[in-house]
Amino acid sequence: MREISTVGVIGLGTMGAGIVEVFARGGLTVVGVETTQEFADRGRAILQASTDRAVARGKLDEAGQAEILGRITISTDLNDLAEADLVVEAVPEVMSIKHDVFGTLDGIVAQDAVLASNTSSLSITEIAAGTAHPERVVGMHFFNPAPVLKLVEVITTVRSDQAVVDGVVELSRRLGKKPVVVGDRAGFVANYLLFGYFTSALRMLEQGHVSREDLDTAMRVGAGLPMGPLTLVDLVGLDVCHHIGEVIYGHTRSPMHAPSAMLGRMVTAGLLGRKSGRGFYTYAKPGSGQVV
Ligand code: 3HC
Repeated sequence: MREISTVGVIGLGTMGAGIVEVFARGGLTVVGVETTQEFADRGRAILQASTDRAVARGKLDEAGQAEILGRITISTDLNDLAEADLVVEAVPEVMSIKHDVFGTLDGIVAQDAVLASNTSSLSITEIAAGTAHPERVVGMHFFNPAPVLKLVEVITTVRSDQAVVDGVVELSRRLGKKPVVVGDRAGFVANYLLFGYFTSALRMLEQGHVSREDLDTAMRVGAGLPMGPLTLVDLVGLDVCHHIGEVIYGHTRSPMHAPSAMLGRMVTAGLLGRKSGRGFYTYAKPGSGQVV
């Protein structure tokens, strides 16, 4: 597989911007692409805030921050990915959008560039099938917050070229991540299990079995997790969780993934978690992790 030194990331929301930071911290040249200037500016602001926090905590000096940010170019034009050795997409979880993006990329990047999707639950096989070279398509699934969590699920399909899979595993290690290679099934490994757990937790809350705080405390303290399930759903986003849950249930029909009506109602009401300022908990301001 070609050596990877320039990486493109498409979509600069929470996950996309986090992935840009991971690559830039790993010393790679990164081109981040968004659809509009407004979204591009939002992505730049996420990167600035995340690296500012590292400086404020004494984990990075200002020269180091300038070096990381200096490796990143932000653009609104997919043609700026022509030199990319690897492109990771983190666009909305809609198959037609993924197909549009990868179809366009087919005409822009080199034939041996790798195309990866950060999808949380959609089929990599189906994404790859819509491209001219499905053998160079894999999943590269990061976890939120991407700059912090070490896991990368490298998702393979029956068409994936083994050299591409090995190259993406090797790159993930170079970035300080812990890659695992998994087959293409709904939710892959981590989300399949995690979303069954979320759904069970939501059902306990719906049934009035336990208060939200006690539910979270039970799992945080009793199971040694960094945060309880409701705090984590608030972090990931209720809309994102609702969508992923529905996709997994749509494929598996397994009772452990049967959608929570309460979650759907909260999404309809605009309670999306930290990003909207309110989900299961209320936050000091949108985007803050400080519960009031
Ligand atoms: N972006 C960048 N860095 C962040 C961050 C963010 N959003 N949030 C926290 N950090 C950094 C902090 O700067 C700090 O860095 P340092 O150790 O170098 O100083 C470090 O993370 C620890 O942060 P805090 O001290 O503020 O807080 P915690 O120790 O409580 O850690 C946490 C915060 C990392 C979010 C931790 O609570 C955690 O790991 N929670 C579980 C997260 C999880 O399970 N995520 C998976 C969700 S599922 C998913 O993503 C799949 C997808 O498909 C939906």
